[in-house]
Amino acid sequence: MPRPHFLLVTYPAQAHINPALQLAKQLASTSSAHITFTTTATALRRINNNNNPHPFLTHATISDGYEENGDNPASDSPIQRLTRFSLAGSKSLLVLARSLSDQGHPVTCIIYTLLLPWAADVARQLGISSAVFWLQPAAVFSVYYHYFNGYKDVIDSGVHQPEFMVNLPGLPPLTSRDLPSFFLPNDPYSSVIPAFEEQFKTIIERQVGDMSKPKVLVNTFYALESDVVKSMDGVELIGVGPMVPLAYIKEHDSSSDKTFGVDLFDGDEKDYKKWLDAKPEKSVVYVSFGSIALLQKRQLEEMTKGLMESGRPFLWVLRKAQREAEKDFVIGTEVIEDERGMVVEWCSQVEVLSHPSIGCFVTHCGWNSTVESLFSGVPTVGMPQWSDQPTNAKMVEDVWGSGFRGRVNGEGLVEAEELIRCLKAVLGEEGEGVRRRAEEWRDKALEAVREGGSSHRSLGRFVEEVSSHES
Ligand code: UDX
Repeated sequence: MPRPHFLLVTYPAQAHINPALQLAKQLASTSSAHITFTTTATALRRINNNNNPHPFLTHATISDGYEENGDNPASDSPIQRLTRFSLAGSKSLLVLARSLSDQGHPVTCIIYTLLLPWAADVARQLGISSAVFWLQPAAVFSVYYHYFNGYKDVIDSGVHQPEFMVNLPGLPPLTSRDLPSFFLPNDPYSSVIPAFEEQFKTIIERQVGDMSKPKVLVNTFYALESDVVKSMDGVELIGVGPMVPLAYIKEHDSSSDKTFGVDLFDGDEKDYKKWLDAKPEKSVVYVSFGSIALLQKRQLEEMTKGLMESGRPFLWVLRKAQREAEKDFVIGTEVIEDERGMVVEWCSQVEVLSHPSIGCFVTHCGWNSTVESLFSGVPTVGMPQWSDQPTNAKMVEDVWGSGFRGRVNGEGLVEAEELIRCLKAVLGEEGEGVRRRAEEWRDKALEAVREGGSSHRSLGRFVEEVSSHES
C-alpha cells in the first residue's frame, strides 16, 4: 500500500495552528503517513524553527488573499477577510495539491480546520477524500449538528425565553446561557464582530450540516465525551486528542517536543518561570482569556479586586490588545509585581499549566485552554465569553466536575466576591473533589494518547481507512 499523503490545512489563528501541528505530528509518527502542513505564509513564518522537523512532515503555504499583494487585512471586516480567504485559499489549495501530484506526491486526503469548509470542495474537485479537524468539543459539534438537523425551530423560537431548556441527545439539559453564543439574541461579540454569528452559522452548517460521508476528527478523547459520541446518529466523531505536546505533562519525562508549537503573539521578558518556581505547590491562580476575548473595563476591575482580596498569588495574561482596548484601566502593577501577582503579555501556557505551583486556572473556557487544563490536572474557574465557551464551561462544571463557573450579575459581570467564592471552592478545603477529578481527567487524557490508548488507536484506524479507500 503506498504511503498516504495528508494535506492538513489550518486557519492561521493561535487556537487552530497548535492543535493542527500536534495532529500533523501524531499522524506522522503513529503511521507511515506523509503530511504537508499548510497555512498562510505569515503564520508559517511564526512556526518555531526549532521544532523537531519530522522526516514525514513538510510545510507549504496557501494564500489568504492579502499577503501576495501586500494588502492589510486589518482594513477589512472579519467577514470580508473570510470571504477573500475562501476565494484565494481554495484556488491556491487546488494549485498546491496539483503541483504535489505533479512532483510525484499525490494527496490522499485533505484535513481542514474550522472556518475552512471550502477545503472540502477542493477535495471533491480533486476526487479525493476530506476530513474535518474539529477544534471544539464533541459536545459543541453535537449542539450545532442537532440545530441543523431537527432542532432549529425549537432553539430559535425558545432561546429568548428565560425558562428555555433543550434536551439534546447525549448532553445535559441546556439553557440559553449554556448554548454557543451564536444562538443568542445578544451575542456579546456582535458589536465587536458585526454579523459574524450569521456568517459563522453558515460556515458551521457547511461543516456539520452536510454530513453525507462524515469523517470528523475531534480534539477530544473518548472517555471524556463517550456519551456524546455514542449519541450521534449517522456521524462518527473520532476522538484523537487531546492535542497537547506530551513533553509538558507533569510526570512525563520526554523532552523531545517542547518547542513543537507556535506563539502568534510576542511575550515580554519577564521571568515568570522563576517567579513560579518560588511559589508553594498548587498555590498560584493562573488567569488567561485566550487569544481573542477582550474583557470590559468593569470586568477587569472586578477581576483585580477579586484577585487582590483573595490573598492568593496570581499570574495574569493581559494581552497587548486588551491593554490597548481599555487604556485607562490601571491594574497597579507597580504594587503587586513580583510579590503577590505578576502580569504578562503572553506566556507559554502549556508550560505554565504544568508547573507544580499552579493550583487553579481562571479561564474563558476556550477549548484549547480547557483541554490543556484537563491534560495538566488543573481545576478551573470558568468565565465564558462567547462562541463555544459557555457550553464548555457547562460541561466542565456539570459533567466533568473539574471546575466551577463564575455566576454573572445583571450586567453580565463576574463580581470580585463571586470570583473569591469560586477560588475558595477550588483551592480551599471544600475543593478536594474538584481537584481530585481534575487529576483523574489528566490520567485518562494521558492514557488516551499513549500508544494503544483510545485516541492513538482511533487515529491509526482513520489512516488505515483513508489509505484502503485510496488503494
Ligand atoms: C478560539 C475561541 O475563542 C475558543 O472559544 C475556541 O474554543 C477556540 O478558538 P481562543 O479564544 O484563543 O480560541 O482560546 P483557546 O482555545 O483557549 O486557545 C488559546 C491558546 O493560546 C491555547 O492553546 C493557549 O495555550 C495559548 N496561550 C494563551 C498561550 O500559549 N499563552 C498565553 O499567554 C495565552
